[in-house]
This record gives sequence, structure tokens and C-alpha cells, in this order.
Amino acid sequence: MTATVPAAAAELIELDERWSTHNYHPLPVVIAEAEGAWVTDVAGRRYLDFLAGYSALNFGHRHPALVAAAVEQLGRVTLTSRAFHHDQLGLFCRELAELTGTDLVLPMNSGAEAVESALKVARKWAYQVKGVPQDTAEIIVAGSNFHGRTTTIVSFSTDDLARADFGPFTPGFTAVKYGDAQAVEAAITERTAAILVEPVQGEAGVVVPPAGYLRELRRLCDVNDVLLVADEIQSGLARTGTLFALDHEGVRADLYTLGKALGGGILPVSAVVGRGDVLGVLKPGEHGSTFGGNPLACAVGRAVVRLLRTGEFQDRSTALGAHLHERLNDLVGHGVAEVRGRGLWAGVELAPGGVTGRVASEAMMARGVLCKETQDTTLRVAPPLVITEAELDHGVDVIAEVIGTGR
Ligand SMILES: Cc1ncc(COP(=O)(O)O)c(C=O)c1O
Repeated sequence: MTATVPAAAAELIELDERWSTHNYHPLPVVIAEAEGAWVTDVAGRRYLDFLAGYSALNFGHRHPALVAAAVEQLGRVTLTSRAFHHDQLGLFCRELAELTGTDLVLPMNSGAEAVESALKVARKWAYQVKGVPQDTAEIIVAGSNFHGRTTTIVSFSTDDLARADFGPFTPGFTAVKYGDAQAVEAAITERTAAILVEPVQGEAGVVVPPAGYLRELRRLCDVNDVLLVADEIQSGLARTGTLFALDHEGVRADLYTLGKALGGGILPVSAVVGRGDVLGVLKPGEHGSTFGGNPLACAVGRAVVRLLRTGEFQDRSTALGAHLHERLNDLVGHGVAEVRGRGLWAGVELAPGGVTGRVASEAMMARGVLCKETQDTTLRVAPPLVITEAELDHGVDVIAEVIGTGR
């Protein structure tokens, strides 16, 4: 079953392809409206969202409490720049710090900016506090990482496609195999400022590290006076059933990068949160962003914090996630080689010789479920946490159908 594209959609796709830079390869669906776990295309056809904007839509499309907060703030003030104070920033930062059990908040916009900010802070901390000689700080990262698209971040990517033709690259990074704490230990030197890690690697295919790995990283950081920086941009904010994916191992980071769902799927909101003595190395003029911490972002971020405070979304992810994994595991041996993940988040590794991730995604789309492949052979399943069990079952039935029958 191949996707038939309605005429109105085909015209708009043509327009996109003519005028927007070809840095993505989207499915041929043109979304015009969305609510909760559902989107509607320009021809009025409804689709179940099994991707949730790569976890930016953890609370579903247009969650009423988030839209209300945005609308209320749109009627007051949206931007001041950080040249002036406004009445939302301090409240947002305090509420986010209280939710996350951290001391300070550095608000930014995109996820990549949050990661960049954390890297700069870690380097400055290394020079000013740890005593690393100027311009020699090292940061250890994991192989197969994904932390964004800036020049510095792709400098330590191990994905050729993300790096090719974008050099020269920023030095000061060492990549070691994800999940291998001994390799991290061997890479630590007196100049190591930080270990940057995704507690679950999303883009790599929803890869959960071996039990104890994250705890061991924490120990290595403590012993060697190194910062643990957890990139929870995709894994955090209830996606895995807890506020942070690190919580599954009872581990605390020194800095966390947050993004995606922090903006409630409404606007880009990111932040670095963490230890006051670490973020405290930044002084006026050393770092910033025109839009970071703007009133609209803060008002929406505060509403996101209120939703997370209830624990409802964490609980939904845990309960629905258990159901999802049980159902997906039944497909192992029937077109599925392996299922990975945690909470309402799964990487479905398609069996070699069967359908590719792209073909499966297109076939799912034709059956009214939107999902997307990562790494060619993995279907990334990350529905909004507001999805019902019946809807989840429907999506899994469609996966089963598609991998059983191909197109
Ligand atoms: C773990 C992680 N870090 C950083 C980013 C970059 O976020 P953004 O696309 O908002 O720059 C992503 C995006 O997928 C991510 O998954």
C-alpha cells in the first residue's frame, strides 16, 4: 500500500521543494491542523502521531493549558531582550530549578544552543575552577552521539553525513564508545573538563546503555573532578517515565541540557540547568541570546513545569510504555530484530532483508500513522504522552501489518 498524495498536498510539497533548502527528507504528508495525538492533513485526512516532534510534543499538540498560557502572554508582552528585566524570567527559572532540583537556569532557545552553552560553561569552569591550562580543556563524548548541528557540535559527531564538508572542526573533544565506561576512564586526563552524554541515545536508534554505565560515569566524574553533563533534550521531561532518564539509575548530573518539550511544542525553549557554582562562572557579557528567556518562552515554560509537577505524564509514560514494549516485543522474530527503549519511547530495529525504515514509515503513513525512521533500519516510536492505550494499540497493529506485508 503506497501513499497517495492528495492534489492540494502535492502542490504544497512542490512549493516546499522549490523554495526550502533540501536539508530534510520528509514523508509526503502536509499537515494543516493538530490536536492531542492526532494531526489532520490539507485534505482533511487524520493521522495518529507516533513521533511527537522527536519528543517536542510530549504533551500532545496544542495542550489546552499550554495554549492558554501562550495566549495569555501574547496579550501582555512577548519580548524585551535581556537588556531589561521582565516579570516571567525569575519565576520560570525558579520553578524549573525547583522541579529539577538544581540551583541555576540558563535559558536559551534551541537544543543545540543549550548544548553549546553547556560546553562553554564546562570549559570556563575547567579554566577558572579546576585550574586546567588555558585552551587545553578536553571534553569526552560518546560515539554515535547526537547533540545538534552547530559547527562545534558536529566537530565531535561520529556521523560522516553530519560532518562532511563542514570542517575545519573545533578541537578539544574525544569520542569513545557509548556504553563503555572503561573507555571513558582511559580517556580522562588532568585536562578533562566534562563528560557529555545522552542517557539514552535517540538519533542513534533509541539506544539504552548497559545498566550501571551512567552510575559509573558519575563515579568517574567525582573521582577525577570532572563535570557530568547530561543531554536530556530528547530523553528528559517525562519521555522515559521519569523527569530525567538519568533518574532510572539514581544519578544526578552537574549540568543538564533541556529543550524540545520544554517549549510545549509551541515555541523553541531550551535551558542548561545545574549546579550554581558551575553555571555561576558566567558573568555579564560572556554569553547570551536575544530570544533566550523571552517572556513568551518563559510563560509557556512555566506551564510545562506545572504539567510535569503533577507527575501525570511521567506515570502515563511508565504505564503506556510497559504496554508498548510488551506489544512490540511480540513482533521480534516477525520482521523485527530487536526492540530498545524506555518508557513511551522505542527503537524498533527492523530485521535485515525486510522493509527499510523509510518504506515502513511510508506504508504506515498510507495507513494513517505517522512515524519516522532513524539510521535507515530503525523505526523511532515516540508518541505524545497523551495517547490512549487503544490508540497505541492501533499504531502497533499498523507497524505489525506494515512489516508483515511491506508496501
Ligand atoms: C539529545 C539531543 N540533543 C540536542 C538536540 C538538538 O536540538 P535542536 O534540534 O533543538 O537544536 C537534539 C535534537 O534532536 C537531541 O536529540
